[in-house]
Amino acid sequence: MVPEDIEKEFLEYSSLPKTNQYKLKISRDEFYNSMRLRGFDYSGIFMGVQQCDIDGRTASLKWNNNWIAFMDSMVQYILSIEATGHSLPTIFDKIVINPLEHLKSVNSNSNVTLNYDKDLNAAKCGGIEIRNIYVTNVRRRATDIPPTLRKYTFVPNNDTQKEVDPFYHSVDVATQIVIDNCMQDLNLGIVEIGSDNAIPILKSNIDRENLKKITFSQVDTIDKISTDYNLIIASDELSLKNIEAYMKRAEFVFAKVQNIESKEVDVIYQHTSKSGSYILMRRPKEAPENSTIIVANNNNYNWVRDLKLAVKKHKAPGSRIYLINEDFNSGIIGLFNSIRLEQYCSNLRVFLLRSYDKIEPFSLKSDFYLPQIRKDLTVNIYQDGCWGTYRRLPLETFQPTLMSDACLIKDNKEIKWVQKSPYQKQNNIFVHCASISKWDSLVINEKAGLDVENTVLLGLEFSGVDNNGNNVMGIVPGGALSTKVEAHPKLTWNFSNKLSFEEATTIPLAYTLSYYSLFIQTYLSPNDSILVHNCTSDLSVAATALALNRGCKVFAVADSSQRNVLKLMFPTIDDSNIISHFKELLKLSKKCVSKNGRFIEVANSIMDFLVADDLMEKNCSFHNISIAELFEENEDTLDMIATDIEKYIKDGVAVPLRYSVFDKDNIETALKHFEEKGHTTKCLIKIRENGRFFTKPDKRVLAYKRTYLDPNKSYIVIGGLGGFGFQLTKWLIERGATKLVLNSRNDVRSGYHASCLQKWNNQGLIVLTNTSDTSTLEGAESLINFASNLGPVGGVFNTALQAQDEFMTDVTPDDFVAVAASKIFSAQNMDIISRKFCKQLDYFIMFSSIASSIGNPIQGNYAFVNSAVERLCETRKAEGLPALTIEWGPLADVGILVRMKLSVQYLETQRQKLSSCMEVLDHFIQQSEPVVSSCVYATKDEEVSEKKTLVEKIANLFGIRDVDEIEDSKTLLELGMDSLLGFEIKHILSQESGVEVNVNDIRNLTIENIKSMST
Ligand SMILES: NC(=O)c1ccc[n+]([C@@H]2O[C@H](COP(=O)([O-])OP(=O)(O)OC[C@H]3O[C@@H](n4cnc5c(N)ncnc54)[C@H](OP(=O)(O)O)[C@@H]3O)[C@@H](O)[C@H]2O)c1
Repeated sequence: MVPEDIEKEFLEYSSLPKTNQYKLKISRDEFYNSMRLRGFDYSGIFMGVQQCDIDGRTASLKWNNNWIAFMDSMVQYILSIEATGHSLPTIFDKIVINPLEHLKSVNSNSNVTLNYDKDLNAAKCGGIEIRNIYVTNVRRRATDIPPTLRKYTFVPNNDTQKEVDPFYHSVDVATQIVIDNCMQDLNLGIVEIGSDNAIPILKSNIDRENLKKITFSQVDTIDKISTDYNLIIASDELSLKNIEAYMKRAEFVFAKVQNIESKEVDVIYQHTSKSGSYILMRRPKEAPENSTIIVANNNNYNWVRDLKLAVKKHKAPGSRIYLINEDFNSGIIGLFNSIRLEQYCSNLRVFLLRSYDKIEPFSLKSDFYLPQIRKDLTVNIYQDGCWGTYRRLPLETFQPTLMSDACLIKDNKEIKWVQKSPYQKQNNIFVHCASISKWDSLVINEKAGLDVENTVLLGLEFSGVDNNGNNVMGIVPGGALSTKVEAHPKLTWNFSNKLSFEEATTIPLAYTLSYYSLFIQTYLSPNDSILVHNCTSDLSVAATALALNRGCKVFAVADSSQRNVLKLMFPTIDDSNIISHFKELLKLSKKCVSKNGRFIEVANSIMDFLVADDLMEKNCSFHNISIAELFEENEDTLDMIATDIEKYIKDGVAVPLRYSVFDKDNIETALKHFEEKGHTTKCLIKIRENGRFFTKPDKRVLAYKRTYLDPNKSYIVIGGLGGFGFQLTKWLIERGATKLVLNSRNDVRSGYHASCLQKWNNQGLIVLTNTSDTSTLEGAESLINFASNLGPVGGVFNTALQAQDEFMTDVTPDDFVAVAASKIFSAQNMDIISRKFCKQLDYFIMFSSIASSIGNPIQGNYAFVNSAVERLCETRKAEGLPALTIEWGPLADVGILVRMKLSVQYLETQRQKLSSCMEVLDHFIQQSEPVVSSCVYATKDEEVSEKKTLVEKIANLFGIRDVDEIEDSKTLLELGMDSLLGFEIKHILSQESGVEVNVNDIRNLTIENIKSMST
């Protein structure tokens, strides 16, 4: 439409006072980083937002002579304020464009100011105005590769650990020891003789990051071995004679052995169980020609200079550097793991002496040390009265436990019962029964248009008993499938003993939604006619009952069995008003809606919006009713709904619907039933028997523990303004924290941080910054005092990081001190002070890196300080104090690697997404190992992706893992394709099947079309 005076079409923008206390702007990088965290990956001219204020009112946009990119940037800005998660605009109310004014404004300055008015829901930039954007959350692509989780723990060389599979455990430990001791030989060869039991274990367990190449071979007999290997694994029990033959062909041999008394072999590691002994053996080594002993400690790094000189001096093979450390919380294991990968460090031998009992000082002549020195192992740890090493071992899988308070959720990957927050006291209904609804089914099948990374509380309706002992039923925006629920103040109704809990559960949702759809949204009046599809579903039955009660004429679509059911329920419906069901009827019925009529769809997938086009021509209105809208209604509307539904119940209009009941421990069967029969019978989950409490243990729910923070306590995040630290802060808030102190050396410098802090503080949370220097005891005390003023300190999280990468031959003591300040100095001080002043501490969580347990050349100092923090946490844990160190592999989305645009090519790892980090963080907090690690391995991805079919690859882009779930007739548009995905799919089609399809045509491709392309 071209108006006569375009200027009159633009809105007036109010100028509200700015509240920015930080005087900071959100930069272009910060803006697009925060969008990336929400799943948007813009590039090139589509990164038009140059700067924004933190009040969300103005921004500066770059004009690149491209109208589409410019308007897209306007939309990005609006989305950044108006929407959460990964959402796309679906509808605009109005767009006004004055091209002349626009070109005039961009001619004078290529950066144009955008004004946004939240109340008007409109943005104007240059000569363009966009009004009222409606957004829909869309599914984000799922990450297929789960992280590998490990514990890093001490394993004695004389190992008798019982709760393990002896072979699995010992071959894993033994191979890790071999890798440590073949450190210059980054091409590792392992051969298994006899069977192939070990190789699959090793393939999945070995961290290959630092090995250039690892070859696994399998032969039947020893004669078939042609080359030298690092390790031979024998499947048969070996006699002494055999062992000697094996020893000629490899430096290490691993086997089950009865008797090992021989001068020709050294026992390096032995696992003994009832089933026998698995032993790692090695040929005895020659005594070193010359050696240097260096004593290291944590606080004075002068030994670093000595070590550096010794590394330079002992370059030739055969000599030795003995690096000794007696600090309980020493970092030399991490140091060794990293510098063993550097040139000239192969002569290093590490002795870490962690003993509460007094032991003699290290000496090459001591009888205590000599047997161990003669083994010439690179790592020798004396702990708990025996020699051993630290090993990366599989972490036990997380198992659910019986709980009395739990709720059913759909998270990133699965549907599960999880612990409820113990801090939400208002849960005032003891739920007896709750239903699975269509909305739950859409959420579970990832068709609800929600960001796949959201956690959704399932269940919309319930029946139960309130605190006063009344029987109640009601609807809630989510979380009814729980042991306890907080009742909605309006949408809860009492019911008498005439109804069972099961019957009562069937009433609230169907009747409320039908009432809302028919009378509030579409003003159905007594003389109107309605056509009801799927006439025996809960919603249709409720709608029919309400429409008949209002005096409307009801037509219904039914097959023969539905016809009988319908007639039984509503005998007044005229036979001639019941239309026989046939397949295309739903589409045709759009044609039979009268001019100005209404087409109502309730709780359906967002994509059905697209079929509304033909209704527009008849000036029909299309209503896609979602339960979320109902909860956003004003008080008066909710009062009206509540009163009328109560009356319907009293008058017998709203009667119980058909249902099937399932046990809370049998959700899978219930869901299956819902998918098959949910359209005819309500699917109820029985959560309690008629008693009010879980008196018997077997009535409790098998649920996963979940981390919740106490809103009354304060939480300290050291490094809280850093990449990961800030996201951790967000997560702590999501999990209930309301008082937080973010500590770093500098105060807020980024507009993005300022905008979040301002938003949180506006929401009533207390999130303060603090710059105390925790590398000093006084600084640590000052920080803890600062936090204690807000509430008892409930947690200390250290995400601080200073990096100072150097090879061992170049590093200085100062480089160690610099990286130690934020890690071990800070951790030691927070440990000391928190022991004194934080009697209610629940969490002491330090963040570390796999550089500490796997190693990373040039990061010896970083690995040292991380490793020291790990030992400190072990010490705390052993004393019964809260303690956990989490080693991350490279992180995606935020943090130093992203900021510095660093690559991590030396590691065969992929970056771990933030959402995945937060998920494993929750698990890690709930387990008892003090040192754990999480890392995503790239190689596994390649293996997986090679096996995928074309249709699987494309379905995965939409977050759909099981292709069989999708109907063949679905188009890619219906699956939620956007233009970015379009280009990706075009590329895959071209690469995989050689078919070139235009992006527009890709939208209409069906799953069947794609299947046919791959054949
Ligand atoms: N990013 C990765 O890929 C990765 C991989 C493995 C492990 N990690 C671990 O994950 C954690 C977070 O890393 P990140 O990448 O998010 O780091 P980051 O973005 O560099 O943030 C670190 C923060 O620490 C603060 N900081 C430095 N020294 C400090 C000190 N002495 N006291 C208080 N604060 C200090 C810095 O702020 P100021 O400069 O203002 O003090 C900075 O904001 C670290 O523990 C790191 O070791 C990260």
